[in-house]
This record gives sequence, C-alpha cells and structure tokens, in this order.
Amino acid sequence: MIVIHTARELRKQIQLKKTSVGLVPTMGALHTGHLSLVKRASEENQLVIVSIYVNPTQFNDKKDLENYPKNLDQDLELLQSSSENIILYAPENDDIYPDGMVPKNFDFGSLALHMEGFSRPGHFDGVATVVEALLKNTTPTRAYFGEKDFQQLTIIKELNKQLKLGVEIISCPIIREKNGLAMSSRNQLLSPKDREEAKVIFKSLEAILKHAEKWTPHQMKQFFIAEVENLKGFKVEYFSVASPSDLIPVDHIEQHKMYRIFVAVYAGKTRLIDTVELKRK
Ligand code: PAF
Repeated sequence: MIVIHTARELRKQIQLKKTSVGLVPTMGALHTGHLSLVKRASEENQLVIVSIYVNPTQFNDKKDLENYPKNLDQDLELLQSSSENIILYAPENDDIYPDGMVPKNFDFGSLALHMEGFSRPGHFDGVATVVEALLKNTTPTRAYFGEKDFQQLTIIKELNKQLKLGVEIISCPIIREKNGLAMSSRNQLLSPKDREEAKVIFKSLEAILKHAEKWTPHQMKQFFIAEVENLKGFKVEYFSVASPSDLIPVDHIEQHKMYRIFVAVYAGKTRLIDTVELKRK
C-alpha cells in the first residue's frame, strides 16, 4: 500500500495508473463498516484511495474533536490486509485548507436545516468544505459513503451536483454490530456496558417499524424516548420522521410514500446516530 500526504503526489500516482478511481473518505479509526466501503470500491474500480483526515471544521464542539478516536497504526494494518490496490491519502492541513482553516459557506436549503444540521451548527459547511477538497484532490470516478450518515450523504450528492464535480456518489448500507448497533468509530468510546445497552436504539426502531401502519410520528417518538431513556445515562437528542428527498420532518405519514426515521442519542458522553427506512403499505 502506498501512503501519500499531498494532492501533488497523488495526482502523479493517478496519472501513472490512468484507471478508474474509487474514493473512500474517512476520519480514520476504521471499522468493519469502513472496510465494507473499501471492499465495494475495490470491486468497482481499478484503484482505491482511502483518505484519513480528521476534519476540525466539522466539529462544532472542541471536546468532541479532542476525544475523536485516532488509531493510525491499526488503520494501516486493516487497510493493508483488506485489498492490494489501495492508496492511503493522509493529507496535511495545508492540502485541504491552503488558505487557512476556515469552512466555506454553502446553501443546501432544507437539506441542512434539521436533525444534524440543527443540532450541530456549521457541521455541514465543514463536511462540504472537506469533501469538496477531497473530491478535487483525488478526482475519483466514484466516491463511497455510508447510509448511517444519510443526511451527510444527501448533502454530498447535492454538493456534487451544485459544483458539477461529475463524481458518482455511491451510498452503501449501514453495517451493524451483532447486537444491532450501527457501526461507528465513536462506538470505541463507549464503555462495554453502554456498548451492549446501546442496542436499544436499533431494537426500538425495529419495534416502531412493526407499528408503522398505525402510529403517528409523535407516538413513535414517545415510544422511542421511553425505551431509550429507561436506561441510565441514555438521552435522546432528536427523533424525526422526514422525507428522504428534502429531509424536512413531518407530523403525518401518508400511504405509499417513502420516509426515514432519524435519531441521535447520547449514551453517556458519546453521541450516536442511526436511521431506518419507513414506508406504509
Ligand atoms: O463521515 C465521515 O467520516 C466524515 O464526515 C467525512 C465524510 C470523511 C468528512 O470528513
């Protein structure tokens, strides 16, 4: 595996190979969810670039940035054993922010207003700034993102459209731990007890889906809060049912239309998010 730190070196490598390129952007602390993206990217492209960059401007909370898990040695090992044709792009700050560490201002309309956009002011400007830089520096054919961050994924599709970057944005399904907890680098921050108990998030969403024909979004939310907050140290930050296209939360569910449930939960100090598809028959 080749490790590269600047866009200039990267361009040389890509030109040398002249092939289809799959980009998997990450913030490191890799887990099986990331590896599923790498696997898909290597099946669909001749060359895979995995970027590891913990992007300061997408953290609206300094403590969250400080505590974000970092494990570069283990990341290298995992990537080395996952596929042969990988370039690891670990950019320096200058490579992403040549004019100083400030995010750009984007207009994503309703896509960035609710859920993560509301709870983490400025977060999506930070995400879009780094993703724009990563897409421009790596010029991939395809870029791979997980559906756990469905709002991020939707905003990145919109960014790609607005900037006419011409990259194929590929959404990949959520990979879950054995107990149902959506895989996330942040899961490493959970105590063993919280990691086990955090299964309540997906179990409650599954239970809600069983009542999808009858319950209103309000009833679903009441149920979710009661189940999750029954556990010591667990607190629901938001529960929203929203349309997957405009990401605007709804109070009523219509037949045959697609929706998504979006949740954010604190387990102790660790913030976890999850999402599932919802459709009434
Ligand atoms: O989902 C992530 O890991 C990050 O938000 C991303 C897309 C790598 C941008 O920093």
